[in-house]
Formats: sequence, structure tokens, C-alpha cells
Amino acid sequence: MSTEHNVAIIGAGLSGLTLALALHQQGIKSTIYESRPAPLNIGGAVMLSPNALRVLDALDVYSVVKPQGYSFERLDFRDSDGNVTEMYEFGDVSKYGYQGLRIYRHVLIDTLVAALKKISVDVVYGRKYSHVVSEDEAANTSGGVTFAFADGTTETASLLVGADGIHSTVRRHLYPDLETKFLGMAGITAAVPTAQLKLPADGSYHIPVTIASKNKERGGAFVIAPQNPDGGEVLIGKQRRIQEHERAAWEQRGSLADGRAAAVAFLQEDADNYPDIVANAVATIDPAKINVWPFYVVPKLDRWASATRRVILLGDAAHAIPPSAGQGINQAFEDVYMLALLLGRQWNTTDVADPQAALDFWQSYRQARIDNVFALNHQIDLRRMPATDAAFVTGDARQPFDLTWLYKPDFKKDVEDWVAQQKE
Ligand SMILES: Cc1cc2nc3c(=O)[nH]c(=O)nc-3n(C[C@H](O)[C@H](O)[C@H](O)COP(=O)(O)OP(=O)(O)OC[C@H]3O[C@@H](n4cnc5c(N)ncnc54)[C@H](O)[C@@H]3O)c2cc1C
Ligand SMILES: *[C@@H]1O[C@H](CO)[C@@H](O)[C@H](O)[C@H]1NC(C)=O
Ligand SMILES: *[C@@H]1O[C@H](CO)[C@@H](O)[C@H](O)[C@H]1NC(C)=O
Ligand SMILES: *[C@@H]1O[C@H](CO)[C@@H](O)[C@H](O)[C@H]1NC(C)=O
Repeated sequence: MSTEHNVAIIGAGLSGLTLALALHQQGIKSTIYESRPAPLNIGGAVMLSPNALRVLDALDVYSVVKPQGYSFERLDFRDSDGNVTEMYEFGDVSKYGYQGLRIYRHVLIDTLVAALKKISVDVVYGRKYSHVVSEDEAANTSGGVTFAFADGTTETASLLVGADGIHSTVRRHLYPDLETKFLGMAGITAAVPTAQLKLPADGSYHIPVTIASKNKERGGAFVIAPQNPDGGEVLIGKQRRIQEHERAAWEQRGSLADGRAAAVAFLQEDADNYPDIVANAVATIDPAKINVWPFYVVPKLDRWASATRRVILLGDAAHAIPPSAGQGINQAFEDVYMLALLLGRQWNTTDVADPQAALDFWQSYRQARIDNVFALNHQIDLRRMPATDAAFVTGDARQPFDLTWLYKPDFKKDVEDWVAQQKE
């Protein structure tokens, strides 16, 4: 047991909470510091695919969250006549070990917080990280990193992990001038009762579904996806182009009453460009159930760790991913689990002679998968975005989906193989 090591995690989002669980499994102590006064409770459900569910299963939380979400296997693509044109798998027990799961973010967060409480890992709320004060050379095994909070207090840990999201402050230590990039696009969504869709009683209309607009130039796709255990509520949504000067106003539309009304109007306009199910979906929308999600990306980073290896970035802080394939959280869980496996090897055994090589392996393994997710996003955008959105949809043609590489990774084996290779 590596009692001498302790990890400070900045951010109690899904990355930070999961990392603390994964580290505990490796016998590594950690503390989470979160700037908010209480667990994050932004509304809405998220989609988890088999690659992430495998991680939650390894951390013993899958069986707790599964009954609290909506399990499903595929998303249908329909054309503007309403005909199914293609299917996209989100899971399959026999092929990938798991179905896909849509679950409210707060349910996932509450489950992780409860699991951490059981094993006495501290989540300290109301502490806003500010900057690194000093970091010892990696070779100094008794050394660490000292960092400060906005209130001027400091802490020291063996490692500082920035799990503080897309607008990460920890990232500034590595990249002081880096800016996130707004993609000029936002997802506007709402939650409505499934009954409102008036689906045929014979079950012949499968949801989740993405429906193309008749307006190929400007329309874009309409998404419908169940999100609670009995499927009684669905998310409905569309993407919208947003000019830079409109961004702040739209970002507030998720919270201000008149902004929400504008978001409702956006979802309702244009319904006659889609099959009837869309008119049903938008017939009544409770403004309190609106969510606005502006899309940002982080430019590709060449390193996810400082030169001393004492400061590490992961999750959205390292590589925010546009939402098309719904892989943001899923990729963050992969980062976390792999890092914990490698740190476990490094700190409880003598198997890892070169910690820098372990970190390089982690980053390049993870980046390769993220690059593939970007390619997959592009394939989905080709099917979803209006034809004129050249920024998203350029050039190359549609490829059929092959998802085995994404849904069936074996992180443990890949780490074992790498360790074995190092010893040769
Ligand atoms: C509306 C919406 C829907 C989404 N749907 C999906 C989906 O279906 N599937 C999917 O895979 N992804 C989805 N995503 C993307 C997903 O939310 C992110 O990829 C994921 O939340 C990243 O997790 P994270 O823990 O890295 O960052 P975050 O969730 O952003 O958490 C960062 C945490 O750090 C805290 N923090 C920030 N700064 C500081 C500081 N200075 N000091 C201390 N704490 C700090 C924040 O308060 C926050 O709690 C969605 C995103 C949005 C906005
Ligand atoms: C490290 O030790 C913990 C228990 O202290 C154990 O659960 C974990 O599997 C070990 N990891 C490795 C890679 O040996
Ligand atoms: C859609 O389906 C209907 C009925 O099954 C069929 O008549 C029509 O030709 C189809 N449209 C296209 C574009 O395939
Ligand atoms: C190693 O780190 C410890 C703790 O920060 C510090 O006291 C010590 O001076 C460092 N040693 C060297 C050789 O830098």
C-alpha cells in the first residue's frame, strides 16, 4: 500500500469523483477540492456507452446506477419522410458486454459521492483552486506539489490532478495563454413526457431517434431520447448556429425566464419541416425544463502533465470533445481508469522503472482513442448537420459505423501488456 502518496484532485465533476474511486481501488489516497458549495446539479441526462460502463462496473457502481437510468441498444436515424435510414449502436450485451445507459447527471454524481463517503474519501466543497506555488523535481521521491486556493490557503500533495472541466484553471499552469474555442453552435434541449409523442402503441417506432429536416440547407436534425428508468420522459432537442456576439445571451437562456421562452420558440419553429412526431414533441414545453449547451473545444494539447509530472490534466480539462457521439464523459472515465491503473503499478510495485514512460504511454494511448472519437463525431455530423454547415461537415463521404474499437477496450490488459513490454 502506497501510504506515502496522496493525490489532490481539483473538481468534483464526473472525472474527479471517478478518479478518487479508481485511486482508492489501487490503495492510493486522494482528496477532492471543489469550488462550488455543493455537488454540481446542472440539469439533464447524459449518455454512457459500454466503454464507460465497463469502468463504472470495475469501480462497483454500475449495478447501482443501471436501475436508475434508461438502458437501450441503438439510435435510429430517420429521414424527413420518417423512414429509418440507418442505425447507430449504443450498446449490446452480447457484442460489447453492456447496453447503453441514459441517466440524469445528478443521479450519477450522487451515486459517486455516496460511494466515496463509504470509503471515507473527502470531497471538500467551497475551495476554489488558484495556482501552483511550487513543485519538486519528479526524482525527489519525498517531494510534492504545493498549490494555493483563491482564499490564499495552500495544500501540498504528491500529485495535483486538474479534473476541473473545459475551462480548467489547473491547465493554466501548463498552458498559461490557451483559450478554449467556441464552435459557433449550441444544443438546445428540453424534457417532455413521452406520452406527448403519441407513439404507435405497437412499439413500431423506436426511440432514441434522430430525424432529418426537409430543409437540407438550414434544418439540421431533431433528436428524441428517453432518459428515465421507465422511459416515461424524453429529451428533445436541436442544434443551433450561434454567432459569437449572441453567445452570452444564449448561454443565459438556460437560466433566465425570457431566455427560456426564446429557447422554447426555437424548438417549436420549423416543426412542419419534420414528420408529425416532431410537432407532437414540441406541442407543450415546460420552460423550466430547457437546457442550453454551447459547444467548446480545447485545442489538441501536446502534454497533459507538467515537466515534473506533479501536475496532470484529464477529462474535459485535457480534451473537451464535441458532443456528436456523446463521448465526453465516456472518454473522461477512460482517462481516469487508465491513470489509476498505471499509478497503482508505479506506486505499489517495482514494475514501472520509468514513470515518464508510463505517463507518455497513458497520454498517447488516450489521445489515439480521442482522435478516433473526433473522426466518429465527424461521421455523425455528416448525418445530422444541415448541408451548409461546412465548418462541421467537409469533404469526405459517410462510412458505415464500426464501434467495436470504442466499446470493447480492455484497459487492464493493455496496461499489463505495456508493463510486460517494459520489462523485456
Ligand atoms: C448539457 C450537456 C450534456 C452533455 N451530455 C453528455 C453525454 O450525453 N455524454 C457524454 O459523454 N458527455 C456529455 N457532456 C459532456 C460532459 O458533460 C463532459 O465531458 C464532462 O462533464 C466532463 O467531466 P469533467 O469532470 O472533466 O468536467 P466537469 O463536469 O466540467 O467538472 C469540473 C468540476 O470542476 C469544478 N471546478 C472548476 N474550476 C475549479 C476550481 N478552480 N477549483 C475547484 N473546482 C473547480 C467545477 O465546479 C466542476 O464541478 C454533456 C455536457 C453538457 C454541458
Ligand atoms: C495496489 O494495492 C491495492 C491494495 O492496496 C490493490 O487493490 C491494487 O490492486 C494494487 N495494484 C496493483 C497494480 O498492484
Ligand atoms: C418511405 O416509406 C414509405 C412507406 O413505407 C415509402 O412509400 C416511401 O417511398 C419511402 N420514402 C423513401 C424516400 O424511401
Ligand atoms: C525534496 O522534497 C522535500 C519536500 O518538498 C524537500 O524538503 C527537499 O528539500 C527536496 N530535496 C531535494 C534534493 O530537492
